[in-house]
Amino acid sequence: MAQLAEIGLIGLGVMGSNLALNIAEKGSRIAVFNRTPSRTRQFVSEAGALGANIIGCETMEDFVAAIRTPRPIIIMIKAGEPVDQQIDALRLLLSGGDIAIDAGNANFRDTIARFDRLKDSGITFIGMGVSGGEEGARHGPSIMVGGTEQSYTRVEKVLTSIAARYEGDPCCAWLGEDGAGHFVKTIHNGIEYADMQMIAEIYGILRDGVGKPAGEIGAIFGQWNKGRLNSYLIEITEKVLATTDPESGKPMVDVILDRAGQKGTGKWSVIEAQQLGVPATAIEAAVAARSLSAMKTEREAAEVIFGMPRYTFPLQDNAALLKDLELALFAAKIGAYAQGFAVMAEASREFGWSLPMPTIARIWRAGCIIRSQFLDEITKAFTEQPDVANLIVTPAFSAMVAESMPALRRIVAAAVTAGIPVPALSSALSYFDAYRQARGTANLIQAQRDFFGAHGFDRIDGLDRPHGPWGVGN
Ligand code: 6PG
Repeated sequence: MAQLAEIGLIGLGVMGSNLALNIAEKGSRIAVFNRTPSRTRQFVSEAGALGANIIGCETMEDFVAAIRTPRPIIIMIKAGEPVDQQIDALRLLLSGGDIAIDAGNANFRDTIARFDRLKDSGITFIGMGVSGGEEGARHGPSIMVGGTEQSYTRVEKVLTSIAARYEGDPCCAWLGEDGAGHFVKTIHNGIEYADMQMIAEIYGILRDGVGKPAGEIGAIFGQWNKGRLNSYLIEITEKVLATTDPESGKPMVDVILDRAGQKGTGKWSVIEAQQLGVPATAIEAAVAARSLSAMKTEREAAEVIFGMPRYTFPLQDNAALLKDLELALFAAKIGAYAQGFAVMAEASREFGWSLPMPTIARIWRAGCIIRSQFLDEITKAFTEQPDVANLIVTPAFSAMVAESMPALRRIVAAAVTAGIPVPALSSALSYFDAYRQARGTANLIQAQRDFFGAHGFDRIDGLDRPHGPWGVGN
């Protein structure tokens, strides 16, 4: 009998195919199955030499029989209902100890429900966040695993072999029980939204405030990519801005409609932050900005009513401005990441996961969409203080915040003066201003609440007088 496969994979779409090729290339034998057998045949025939490590199966029975027990099976299909249908079909064929692995962008609440539903069946469930797009899946993604630690032990070798590496260290880890992996992937995507939005806002300042063409802006991002902003998203921004549309000869970015899509993970991260009572304002602003971008016809109508802003951008186009923009983006980025990590810390308490913050930062350093040099700094900060309340108060980051926040203030002020929208940058700035303010203004909110609803308040002098003398003397 042919040698059994180490792992199985269902769903030969782009991500599934690339993951399967990655696994085969790293030396593990893999069984693959797709709903349409012709796709399976095509996949195996196109795999070339890697086909030696791939067992293409045309029935679920053959597929299951081809995998070494306990069988880990990666399900890489459309998130939601299809995953449940696939699990139900598999359940009839699997035996105790086998592991169903959902590697799609699932909502972690669905993952927890699936984990619980399978608990008594003997089959284990892993919810696995995979980041890095097509390229990552093929050559090295960042892999965030949630499930039992025991089930992870069965797949650890294969997964770490295919993961991206940062200075030799694989970007793959077990992060906690049930939905932990998918939750962390969701927050990764929330941060991804904020990161992208902030980059877009800086692009907007350079385009509309300073009047630079796409190519020049691309070159600026290219310069920044050599410094502290060095990251995949800055790198692709440079490349995007340097690309010309073959149809029109114009910069590609100038012929793309300003209407952003979204598939839901950013929105989930904001919903969960709100549920947990953790401010994630920069991420919220980024999600809202995508929604506002989608309202193209409304925006066009509003521009007819109000006109284009005619205010002049108050800063000079010179080296100091570029330095400020770079630092401002860096400061705002710190705010977004601090918020994302704070959401994860609270979720860890709420869902009993013990999420390892240094490990999360460590496995985001390579492979994923938000990969960067910066995440190495975050790894170091959390390694020194894993339970710190907020990233911005760690010694390394408080120094970076002190250095960069004044630039963010100048840039946000200039953009506001010129009528250029900077929702994510300004949210990050306000978050910092509110977070470091020992005496805020919620005393007035408390007084108002007590006035109209007798909700009570705490006094600063500790006196036991929980309600105000409202109306007295009126
Ligand atoms: C990743 C990406 C990936 C996908 C997002 C995009 O980490 O590889 O986040 O998962 O690109 O789902 O999401 P939107 O379509 O919502 O922008």
